[in-house]
Amino acid sequence: MKSKKSNAKTEKADRASSEDVRSAVRKRYGQLALNSAPCCGGETNTTCCTGIYPNADVISLPSEAIAVSAGCGNPTAIASLKPGMVVVDLGSGGGIDAFLSAKKVGKKGRVYGIDMTPEMINRARRTAKENGYDNVEFRLGEIEHMPLDAGVADVVISNCVINLSPDKEAVFREAYRVLKPGGKVAISDIVLLSELPDAVREDLGAWSHCVSGAVSEEQYIGAMRKAGFEKIKVEDRVVYSHEQLSGYLRETKLEEDPSLAKIDLSRLVASYRISAVKPKK
Ligand SMILES: C[S@@+](CC[C@H](N)C(=O)[O-])C[C@H]1O[C@@H](n2cnc3c(N)ncnc32)[C@H](O)[C@@H]1O
Repeated sequence: MKSKKSNAKTEKADRASSEDVRSAVRKRYGQLALNSAPCCGGETNTTCCTGIYPNADVISLPSEAIAVSAGCGNPTAIASLKPGMVVVDLGSGGGIDAFLSAKKVGKKGRVYGIDMTPEMINRARRTAKENGYDNVEFRLGEIEHMPLDAGVADVVISNCVINLSPDKEAVFREAYRVLKPGGKVAISDIVLLSELPDAVREDLGAWSHCVSGAVSEEQYIGAMRKAGFEKIKVEDRVVYSHEQLSGYLRETKLEEDPSLAKIDLSRLVASYRISAVKPKK
């Protein structure tokens, strides 16, 4: 049963309007796409970039994609990708997981990256062209209504994106629609561990930084089940330290909020990897 507070949260998100959320998210990732400073390693302490790919994978990928990597896990590691498969990457950003998948599915496979931020799509397309990835295609669109036919994909992956959607049930309905029967979804995402403080919950900056749009494990898995997915499995969870999260939230206006100083941020969210299957019939 939902608590009074989580009902309030839903109403708040509805009132803040999906369009407010989308424009805050587009603004943040549009700026990231135009920025050539590396996301991982530099002075910025991000949650979304924490040395999550094996070195061998990272060095094989275009630096233009790595520089704007903003994921919270490595969904390709649980996706069981094989040569010839068709993969859809939801919220593909600069393309890091799409390019990694493209290597795994090979010339006979195909990867579609979907993203609603034009600057990200332009950057990813340019990276694909300059680096000869002709089995990858980036399409501009929202993952709540994807620009793809039904039943095209063997695997749907996503890295730190579904938490950003104001309509998570629609995302899972769409993921289910574009998968072939028996297809797999493999996700890394931020999941809520406990109620967010008001200051964080109400901040659109914290939403676009992958925190305030997060829902509980129960709500997340509930949305997947409602879409029709089976064999839903939490593969692993990574909890962030207070220091990691406070450094990360410092990029938002929340820096000035004194109420945050008293809160143990490590209890708020974690990075989950979740897989599930679309039934064969
Ligand atoms: C945290 S970044 C992750 C990017 C990429 N998956 C990675 O790991 O580097 C989130 C990306 O999802 C995109 N995005 C967020 N909400 C979206 C939505 N509803 N539809 C399509 N793209 C969305 C943003 O434009 C951004 O590029």
